Amino acid sequence: MARCTIALFDSGVGGLTVAGRVFEKMPGLPVLYFGDTAHVPYGNRSPEELVRYADNIIRFLSGQGATYIIFACNTSSSLSLEIMRARHDLPMMGLIAPGAKAAVSSTRKGRIGVIATQATVNTGAYEQAICTLSPGTAVYSVAAPRLVPFVEAGLLDAPATEQALSDYLLPLREKEIDTLVLGCTHYPFLRPAISRMLGPDVTLVDPAEATVDAARADMLDRGLLTAGDAGEPCFHRYFVSADALGFMQAARSLLGSGADIDVQEVCLPD
Ligand code: DGL
Repeated sequence: MARCTIALFDSGVGGLTVAGRVFEKMPGLPVLYFGDTAHVPYGNRSPEELVRYADNIIRFLSGQGATYIIFACNTSSSLSLEIMRARHDLPMMGLIAPGAKAAVSSTRKGRIGVIATQATVNTGAYEQAICTLSPGTAVYSVAAPRLVPFVEAGLLDAPATEQALSDYLLPLREKEIDTLVLGCTHYPFLRPAISRMLGPDVTLVDPAEATVDAARADMLDRGLLTAGDAGEPCFHRYFVSADALGFMQAARSLLGSGADIDVQEVCLPD
């Protein structure tokens, strides 16, 4: 019997790229997922709004039995994680510190690009985390606000998506980066197009991988998980704050038609 229920949240379908890693690495754990589709995209929201949304979502997930929270959203990780840690008694993990560590391990030339939402770029969270670990590293951040709506709409290969990617990525290629952090959880769905555009010399870092490893290690430390907690198939629950059908369709188109998920729409305080 799993002793831990992991809950993840994001503005929409992006956090499913993190949930996928949880399913791979901790297959015996029940997962709760919250997509705040009433407020997507988060990237244009103010810090006050983002803190309020995270607070309401964490209260809700805690009421549903969550015992560990993974911020499956870079924007919330950079703006709300520390405030939520101080406010709630639940263990939490965000994407920035593990993602920065993975980027520092990946770079050979000390030239790292970051694409993220405008709100994340405004915080400078990745630059700070990377330069704390490895002073002197050159970090080039680009806000890529046109990408999230394309991913939410399932437009992964549309000409407009390719155009937006080239607008955001070509300036980074000119900076001769050797590593690019996918600093928004929606972007790994665009990985094939991003790889094509940047070529084999640029390593793409998806912070989800290191974040889920860090969460697993933290859960083991806290005794929330034992090495034997694995393998039993279990039941995952999905919640959204608006348009359950749209979320389900987007999830199916992004994850493959076999992804049969049950989504419940809930109303949280605004
Ligand atoms: N996927 C989220 C992130 O990682 C939020 C994107 C958005 O809604 O703008 O930042």
